[in-house]
Amino acid sequence: MRLNNKVILITGGATGLSGEINGIGGAAARICAKEGAKVLIGDINDEMGQKTANQINEIGGHARYLHLDVTDEDEWVSVYKSIASVEGKLDILVNNAGTGVPNYDPSLTSARNSEEALMVEHITVDGLQSQLKVHAQGVLLGMKHGIPLMRNGLGGSIINVSSIHGIVGTHTVTSYQAAKGAVRQLTKAAAVQYSKENIRVNSIHPGFTKTPLTTELFTNPEILSDRVSQIPLGRFADAEEIAMGILFLASDESSYVTGAELIIDGGVIAQ
Ligand SMILES: NC(=O)c1ccc[n+]([C@@H]2O[C@H](COP(=O)([O-])OP(=O)(O)OC[C@H]3O[C@@H](n4cnc5c(N)ncnc54)[C@H](O)[C@@H]3O)[C@@H](O)[C@H]2O)c1
Repeated sequence: MRLNNKVILITGGATGLSGEINGIGGAAARICAKEGAKVLIGDINDEMGQKTANQINEIGGHARYLHLDVTDEDEWVSVYKSIASVEGKLDILVNNAGTGVPNYDPSLTSARNSEEALMVEHITVDGLQSQLKVHAQGVLLGMKHGIPLMRNGLGGSIINVSSIHGIVGTHTVTSYQAAKGAVRQLTKAAAVQYSKENIRVNSIHPGFTKTPLTTELFTNPEILSDRVSQIPLGRFADAEEIAMGILFLASDESSYVTGAELIIDGGVIAQ
């Protein structure tokens, strides 16, 4: 039991149904519950989030679903109020909610899969802002209102899910890259600022992972073979392989790790 009695909030953790392709947050919810954590799932997909929590409880874990739109500050405040009154503390926060859908210039819709439509000169302000809102604003608000609750305990661990595209450039996801780069730097700011209170803050940088978000990538043979050709290990990750990194950073095994970037990408950006 690597997380015995720890309270963990995982945003974007709804996609954790057994027998289906899991998302990273859903897989982390199941794995952390098996390791003894009290798992709180915050998501906007209420139906799936509730089902995932129910399934975890049915197999002897402890999970509770809470509606949470990570872009909404008031919703964060009420989620943390609920955690303070029911679980009484917060040990671990996983800021995982996200959307990978690139925002295209509407005038280039016909070129949806062409690289041109995704390059800097075609990015719209709305597209950029919608990515920043979910990823950068969502992560900032989660930390802003979660840190005071962690402070009541013995410190804590915050894990922010960025991407390899928060580190290196690519042709296909410009706005997403700006947002994931912000997640990486927000992580380092918080790591430095809260280290004295034993609150560790790290980022995870998944590569190409089979999740509900990336169905188009791994079901379209042309896109799949293009992406796989970029991966030294020669395949996409399963969500569980990313979730194992989250488990490490959540547990006391990583007690000396803060401000770090855990890249789990089958070797893509080692090249
Ligand atoms: N799948 C990949 O290849 C990959 C690679 C790198 C990074 N990531 C990141 O991993 C994270 C998880 O993505 P995933 O691939 O597991 O997809 P996923 O679709 O399974 O998970 C994303 C979850 O976030 C939720 N969500 C979206 N907007 C939200 C909001 N405003 N408030 C609360 N919840 C919201 C969705 O409902 C969904 O449950 C994302 O941050 C994504 O950018 C994924």
